[in-house]
Amino acid sequence: MTDTSDRIEDLVQNANTPERIMEISMTNTDVANVIHSVEDNAEAIFTWNYEKGERPRLDKLYEKAKTSQWNGQTDLDWSIDVDLDELANEPDPAEVAYFADSPESPLYGFSDDQWNQVEIESFKWSLSQFMHGEQGALLCTAKIVETVPWIDAKYYAATQVVDEARHVEVFAQYLDTKLDGGIYPCNVHLGLLLDDIINDSRWDMTYLGMQIMVEGLALAAFGFMHQTTKEPLLKKLLRYVMSDEARHVAFGVLSLQEFYENLNAKEIRERQEFAFEAALRMRDRFMRQEMWEGFGVDVKQMVEYQLNMPEEMKVFQQLLFSKIVPNCKKLGILDAGDGWLRDRFTDIGVIQFEDWVDTATEYEALDEVAKDRATA
Ligand SMILES: [Fe+2]
Ligand SMILES: [Fe+2]
Repeated sequence: MTDTSDRIEDLVQNANTPERIMEISMTNTDVANVIHSVEDNAEAIFTWNYEKGERPRLDKLYEKAKTSQWNGQTDLDWSIDVDLDELANEPDPAEVAYFADSPESPLYGFSDDQWNQVEIESFKWSLSQFMHGEQGALLCTAKIVETVPWIDAKYYAATQVVDEARHVEVFAQYLDTKLDGGIYPCNVHLGLLLDDIINDSRWDMTYLGMQIMVEGLALAAFGFMHQTTKEPLLKKLLRYVMSDEARHVAFGVLSLQEFYENLNAKEIRERQEFAFEAALRMRDRFMRQEMWEGFGVDVKQMVEYQLNMPEEMKVFQQLLFSKIVPNCKKLGILDAGDGWLRDRFTDIGVIQFEDWVDTATEYEALDEVAKDRATA
C-alpha cells in the first residue's frame, strides 16, 4: 500500500479514537512565530482564451459579486458597545449536566462562574478560528486566480480575494476592539488542513478543500451563530459575511461539477479521500483543544468526553455539515465508485443532510447585501 492509502485507512479505522486526535492536538508550537510558511506546489497558468461568459454560470456569479460588495468600515456600526458577559451564550443545561455531574469528568464540580467563563472563552475561540480560516481562504483564493485555467473563474476568484480580505479585516477588528483582543492561535487540526490545501499541486483540490469543505462548514457555523446571537454588530457582520460565503461555496460547486465529469474512477476516489480527511480535521478541531488547555483540565479526557456525548447533544456539531454533504452529493462524489464517501459520512454521523438544499441552488436567496442595496 502507498503512504496515502495507509494514512486514509488509519483515519477510517480510527475516526473516533481519541488517541488519533490527541497525537496532533498538543500545544501549537507555532504560536511564538509571527509568520508561518507553506510550500505551494502549483503552477501559475496563463490562458489566452479571453472569451468572457464562456462559462455562463461563473460569469453570472462574477457579475453578482461586483454588485454585492460591501465595506467593513462603513457598512457596519463599530460604535456599538459590546458586553462580553451578555454576548456569550447561556451554558446549555444538558451539557452542564453531562460534563459537571460525573466524578470522572474533567469538568466535574465546575462552578457557575467557571461555566460562564467556558462560554466566553468558547466565543473568543470560535471567532479566532473563523478569522484564521478566513486568512486561509484569502491565500487559497489568490492561489486559484493563478492556477485555474478558465478566464471566467479567474475573474470570479479575483472578487473572492477582495471578499476574503474584508472578512479577515472585520473578524480581526471585532476581536481586537470588542473582545479585548482575546485571540486564540490557529487550531492545529485546522492549520494542517489549510497547509494541505495550499500544498496540493492539483488546482481542483484547492476548490474542494476550501470552497466545498472549509467554506461549506463556515457557512453553516456563521448561520448558527447569526441565529443565536443578539448582539447587533456581530449579527450584521455575520449576515454580510454569509452573503459572500454562499457565493464562494457556489463557485466551488459550479466549477467542480464540470471538472469532475471528466475524471476517472481512481481520480474521483482521491477526491473522496481528500474530502473525508478534511471533514475529519474540521470535526476534530471543534473539540477546542487549546481552549481546554487554558482551563488546566486534561485535554485528552475532554476529547474523549466530547466524542462520547449522547447523540442528541451532538446536533450542533452535526449541523456544521449541513452544507457540505448536499454539495458533495451534487458534485457526485458522495456515491461515486462504491459509495465510499457516503459510508464515511455515515461513520461520522452526518449523512442525514444529503437531501438538504445545495449551495449552488440557494446562494442568491442568501444575498442579504443585495437585498439591502435594493431597498436603500
Ligand atoms: Fe470568507
Ligand atoms: Fe469565503
